[in-house]
Amino acid sequence: MDIIFYHPTFDATTWINGLQQRLPQATVRKWLPGDNSPADYALVRTPPLAMLQGRSALKGVFALGAGVDDILSQLKQHPEMLPPGVPLFRLEDTGMGRQMQEYAVYTVLGWFRRFDDYNLQKQQALWQWLENYHRDHFTVGILGAGVLGSSVAQSLKVWGFPIRCWSRSAKQIEGVTSYHGADQLSDFLHGTQVLINLLPNTPQTVGIINRQLLSQLNHGAFVLNLARGAHLVEEDLLAALDAGEIKAAALDVFATEPLAEQSPFWSHPRVTITPHNAAVTLPDEAMDYIAKSILQREAGAMPEGQVDITRGY
Ligand code: NAP
Ligand code: GLV
Repeated sequence: MDIIFYHPTFDATTWINGLQQRLPQATVRKWLPGDNSPADYALVRTPPLAMLQGRSALKGVFALGAGVDDILSQLKQHPEMLPPGVPLFRLEDTGMGRQMQEYAVYTVLGWFRRFDDYNLQKQQALWQWLENYHRDHFTVGILGAGVLGSSVAQSLKVWGFPIRCWSRSAKQIEGVTSYHGADQLSDFLHGTQVLINLLPNTPQTVGIINRQLLSQLNHGAFVLNLARGAHLVEEDLLAALDAGEIKAAALDVFATEPLAEQSPFWSHPRVTITPHNAAVTLPDEAMDYIAKSILQREAGAMPEGQVDITRGY
């Protein structure tokens, strides 16, 4: 069994040795331009076209992340990149759920306990109690109720906030109110105090967090974008922040990354920024998952995490 690996930034040696250990029957190699030798599986992030093109013998392509928008946008421009019938898989959870939970719980509790306001007061040496939010009215709405959205919902539920989620199909998650489809988006937004985005980046979701959407949240709501910069119309968020309609935002992802030095987000007192690392690919967890999936595929089964290319996630 031959496995090829390509990632623009990951340390190839760690991955090749780790996969080799987990799959001793395989030969794992780093893909380099010009390598057209046979391969059964490809592990990739933003792969060069030449890596996959024409490889109809592949039994699977494994994306080294949860989101596959990078691969699908390349595929849109170059449909020949992935030969027909070759399944594309993505990472489901592999430790990312817990990282998203940490980020969301830290941020939502900070807003709930008004640490954003107290940090601003500190700069003025101001010793002053502020009115607390009511837990029952501090409704958290999660856009996307998939692997990561539902994981975040579980972690916030234990703090007693009302939790709701919005997805394409209806969900049954205990203690979480489910809304689905375009028709129920407004109902989901009305009454939401904290909006958390965990949608995939697809033609249907691009630009979804715009002024019109933001205006339907509670006045003074909070926005936490953990998914993709393409979901957010940045100038609309800035306008809503400056108008006080949105009280604060925590942003991990941006339309252009790295975020430009001149971006107004850097100096905005109500915006916190992290450099797209809300949930990173953990090599050991990801390699365990991919090795297990390859063995399932070798045994004739279809592993979890297959991407529906026409749906876009
Ligand atoms: P997932 O399991 O595929 O979940 C996606 C959710 O979005 C599903 O609930 C899906 O609904 C819903 N959805 C998709 N299109 C929709 C639409 N048009 N309208 C309403 N709901 C829609 O994905 P995941 O593993 O949770 O990951 C979510 C995203 O997080 C990834 O795509 C990636 O971009 C991002 N991410 C970011 C980081 C980071 O570090 N910032 C790390 C990892 C992942 P159904 O359940 O009905 O299909
Ligand atoms: C990171 O953003 C991922 O999609 O895994």
